[in-house]
Amino acid sequence: MSYQNIIDQNREWIDSTFNKLDEKLSRTSVKSRDKIPYTTKNGEHDSRTTGPDIAWWTNGFWGGLMWLMYEATKKDCYRITAENAEKIMDGAFNYIDEIHHDVGFTWHIMSGASYALTGNRKSRDRDLFTAMTLMSRYNIDGEYIVAWPGKDKRGWSIIDCLMNIPQLYWASREIGDDRFKKVAMKHADMAMRDHVREDGSVVHIVEHYLDKVGVVKTHGGQGYGEGSCWSRGASWAVYGFILSYIHTGEQRYLDTAKKTAKYFIENVKKTDWLPVIDFKAPPTPVGFDSTAGAVTACGLIEIAKHVDDDEKDYYLSAAVNMLRAMESAWCDWSETEDSILQNGTERYWNERKDGSLGDPMPIIYGDFFFAEAILKLRGSDFLIW
Ligand code: GLY
Repeated sequence: MSYQNIIDQNREWIDSTFNKLDEKLSRTSVKSRDKIPYTTKNGEHDSRTTGPDIAWWTNGFWGGLMWLMYEATKKDCYRITAENAEKIMDGAFNYIDEIHHDVGFTWHIMSGASYALTGNRKSRDRDLFTAMTLMSRYNIDGEYIVAWPGKDKRGWSIIDCLMNIPQLYWASREIGDDRFKKVAMKHADMAMRDHVREDGSVVHIVEHYLDKVGVVKTHGGQGYGEGSCWSRGASWAVYGFILSYIHTGEQRYLDTAKKTAKYFIENVKKTDWLPVIDFKAPPTPVGFDSTAGAVTACGLIEIAKHVDDDEKDYYLSAAVNMLRAMESAWCDWSETEDSILQNGTERYWNERKDGSLGDPMPIIYGDFFFAEAILKLRGSDFLIW
C-alpha cells in the first residue's frame, strides 16, 4: 500500500487522536504552566525546577511538546507555556557541572523550536551556546562524544546521544562551521560500529579508550544486562540514525536506521505491537515501555518517507500499528490525570534499591514522542530535531 493510502485508511483515528491531544494539552498547558514536568503523582504533574534537578535531561520535553502543539494549532496557550518553560530552564546554567550531552534533548527541541517558529534571537543563543557545550564533550583521540560528567565515566558513550547530535547539524548550518557536522558524523559512525550489533540490536553503553579509537567493554545500562537490547535504546538508534540521514544525506545512516528498525519491528510484533522493556531479556516476568514505542514510531514514519515506494508500507504500517495499540492500551484521556501515555519505564523494570520491581509510570517524553508521531501522521513536516 502507498504511504498516502495508509494515512487515508487511518485518517479518522489520526484526527480523533489529534483532537484528544489538543483537548488535553490545551488544558494542562495552562494548569502546569509554571512546572517542568517529568511524571505525575496522583494524577498531577510533578516539577523539576529546584536545585540540580533543573539540569535533568528530560526538562526540554515539556517546552518542546508545547512548541509541537503550537506549530499544529497556533494557539497562544502553547506558546506562552513554552516560552515560560524556556525562561525557567535558564536556572540550569547555574549548575554547569551537572550539564551533560543531553543538551539536544533539553535545549534544541525547546529553544531551537522557539527560534525556528518565532525567530526569537535569545532562543537561538541558548541553542547555540549549548551546542558548543556538546562540542566540548567530544573526545578527539577516541572519536566519540562523552555522555555524562564524572571522571569514572569519561570514556562512556551511550546510544541516546544520536538524538542530541541533530543540534550539532543545526549549529553547523546556522553559523556556517563544518566542524559541528563533522563531530556529529564521527559520533554517528562510532555508534554504527560500536553500538549496533550484526542482528540490528543495540548496546546501550560503550566504554572506550580515552587516548585511541576502540572499545574497552560494553555495559547493559538501562536494559536487562550485558548483551541485552534495551528497547528505548533501540528506539534512540532507529530515530537517531534516520535523523543523521536527513541532516547529511549519507546512505549508511539510512541503511543503519533500517537495520535497527527491522530488529525493533520483528520483535515488537511478537507482543501485539506493545514494546517490552528489553528484547533480549528472559520472557518472564514481562514488562513494557511505552516510551520506546512512541520514539520508534517517529523514526519509522521518517524512514517511510525516505525509502523506495515498495518499502514504505513495512515501516509506516508498523508505526501505525504500534501507535494504535498503545493508544488503545495505554493512553489516558481523562481530566483526572495530567499525563497521556502511561506504562513508561525508566530502566529495566524500574528496579528499586532493594531489588523489588517498580511500577510502570507516565514519563514526559512518552507524551512528547506520541504527540510528535501523531502530528507527523497528520501531515506536519515540522522537524523539531
Ligand atoms: N536518555 C536516558 C533514557 O532514555 O532513559
